[in-house]
Amino acid sequence: MTAVGIDAIEIRTGKLELDLAETFAPAKGDDPEKYTKGLGLHASSFPDAYEDIVTMGANAAHRLMERKGLTPADIGRIDVATESAFDNSKPVSTYIAGCLEQVFDEDFHHANKGERKFACVAGTQSIDDAYNWIRAGRHRGRSALVIATDTALYARGDPGEATQGAGAVAMLISEDPDVVELSTEQGFGSADETDFLKPNQQFPSVDGKRSVQVYLARMREAVRDFESVAGTIHPDDFTLLPFHTPFPGMVRKAAALAYRHTIRDTEIEEELAEDIGRQPRPEAFDSDEAYVDAMGEYTDELVETDQYRDWYDRVVDPTLEISREVGNWYTGSVHVARASGLKHALENDMDLTGATLGVASYGSGAQAEVHAETVQSGWEDEIAALNVDEQLDNRYSISYEEYEHIHDVHNHDKDTDAEAEAFTPPEGEFVFDGWGRMGE
Ligand code: CAA
Repeated sequence: MTAVGIDAIEIRTGKLELDLAETFAPAKGDDPEKYTKGLGLHASSFPDAYEDIVTMGANAAHRLMERKGLTPADIGRIDVATESAFDNSKPVSTYIAGCLEQVFDEDFHHANKGERKFACVAGTQSIDDAYNWIRAGRHRGRSALVIATDTALYARGDPGEATQGAGAVAMLISEDPDVVELSTEQGFGSADETDFLKPNQQFPSVDGKRSVQVYLARMREAVRDFESVAGTIHPDDFTLLPFHTPFPGMVRKAAALAYRHTIRDTEIEEELAEDIGRQPRPEAFDSDEAYVDAMGEYTDELVETDQYRDWYDRVVDPTLEISREVGNWYTGSVHVARASGLKHALENDMDLTGATLGVASYGSGAQAEVHAETVQSGWEDEIAALNVDEQLDNRYSISYEEYEHIHDVHNHDKDTDAEAEAFTPPEGEFVFDGWGRMGE
């Protein structure tokens, strides 16, 4: 069977940076370590006044296509995953295709375009759709463009405010991919939840504490469901474990529970038993809260052990490096985590070809999805081509007053003159200068 998977990745960050320790914490009267240590974040990325989900997505897709030598004729499908859409009828992919048509002087009339919605898991679902489309043989030799793009903004004063971020990840899904091959095995954990909602409103209504429990509970179900098709997982099965990362502190909790689950009845649990006792093994829990509480005592001790720290530093921590600097990108977040882990491996001369990644996606509302990927021989060139460090270094660092201003600029309910208020000059890129009109 021909391999199908991710052939190329591009990351586009918003051009502004809000430093959480230096700028946000003092303005809120908080200890900076709540953000740097507790949430695990250094900074958030914000879109400048002329950036939005369309421009960030189009700029990422444009660079990807140019780099791979593609024109619209090579793309048969464009799917955008977002929870920041501004149109309930016309998909964001049509706006992005319109931008790209301007620079390629060729149209996308032949391409099937759509928009996927299931909170942050929609990016992974779009990859699944593209995979199925190619596997079904409907692609006529063409690739699919999947773009996960979001401005993850919360109302000012909301506890989620510290986890904001903005950016896009464009991915090319093809046969014989260069980055990773997707496996057919998947596990799901899905339930009707109301912890995070955006019913025709720009900023989410969030029950933050509950959202953390729901993430962990659905992820547990997805791991168990994955094991029902792929067999029992051992912690060493995966070289990297990219999770959906609303903030690294969330992944710290999820990783500890995943590790706890995978060491049951293994030599690792045996070794740890003397120091921290045997882990609890209840089969069912009355509630998500009961599950998280029941495991807490064990995982609090587990994360202090050398075995766990060694595993976490190798398998999970490298996936958080970019996230720490950009915050939550909703649909793009797990794909940033994958890219971050691969980038870390490249920078440390690790040979990852043939290695297995366990990708743990999550969307509020709520659904978790776990699947495996195999790293392909072209991964080094693809990851080396990312210019994310340069983009991060070039961000304009905003003061708290400037943050309040740009937050208002992107608040659709406020009438703020976007064009006059930019902090950086656009440079050969798509810019937002009025609904529906983009130019380079
Ligand atoms: N030094 C070190 N650590 C500190 C500290 C200090 N001075 N002060 C606080 N901390 C720690 C806390 O102990 C806590 O860590 P633990 O959770 O490990 O105990 C951490 O910092 C955060 O502190 P709080 O819990 O007090 O923070 P909060 O209540 O103000 O906000 C939050 C946390 C509720 C998750 C909030 O960020 C939020 O609402 N976020 C948006 C929702 C979200 O991201 N949920 C995640 C799951 S849902 C999802 O993943 C989908 C999605 O993308 C949104």
